[in-house]
Amino acid sequence: MDSFLMTCLLIIVPVVTINGYSTGAPKGACKNLMPNHEGAVAQTTTSPYSISVSSTTYKPGETITVTVKGELFKGLILQARSSSDDTTPIGTFTIPSTNTKTTKCTSDSDTWTHSNSTNKREGSANWTAPSTNMGDITFRATIVQTKLKFWTNHEKAVSAQSGLRYGVWILFVGLLTVAMVVCN
Ligand SMILES: *[C@@H]1O[C@H](CO)[C@@H](O)[C@H](O)[C@H]1NC(C)=O
Ligand SMILES: *[C@@H]1O[C@H](CO)[C@@H](O)[C@H](O)[C@H]1NC(C)=O
Repeated sequence: MDSFLMTCLLIIVPVVTINGYSTGAPKGACKNLMPNHEGAVAQTTTSPYSISVSSTTYKPGETITVTVKGELFKGLILQARSSSDDTTPIGTFTIPSTNTKTTKCTSDSDTWTHSNSTNKREGSANWTAPSTNMGDITFRATIVQTKLKFWTNHEKAVSAQSGLRYGVWILFVGLLTVAMVVCN
């Protein structure tokens, strides 16, 4: 390895480690939602945190309030994933609560994370669904209590409700059945 590269690594590595992502989850966490803190592994005990939503169904373009609470926490990374593609975050987050922010993994504001490592008792943000039907979704999150203590795999399912379309379909099948019975 040449000495320039070596020097760069020696400078960059400690800076990243010391910083500990206090201003939000790093890019590397976009897919697996792992904080990748040096020497930290996910807790296997039951998480003290939970995700709650203002509605367990949604329609395209609708907004849901997502809340994270439990014990005090320093950091989080939370996204909505469609059940047909569990790798790409969908929708957009707005009005992140104090000491949290929205960030971009694939598209603008598709991820909600902390902006500062101050202990938070509770956090919330609004999530707006894409305008096209993405089917059922799941909010997925990793929540960081301290640099070495975090829980992954927080999930909250929200099902797609294509209300009008189903209604029209049921009406159509109903009328067809009546027509078949009457005409026979
Ligand atoms: C946040 O979402 C809720 C629905 O959960 C909605 O009533 C409220 O108007 C939204 N707030 C903003 C600022 O968009
Ligand atoms: C985080 O931001 C708040 C203001 O929103 C500030 O009071 C606090 O000192 C900050 N904490 C850290 C660890 O930077």
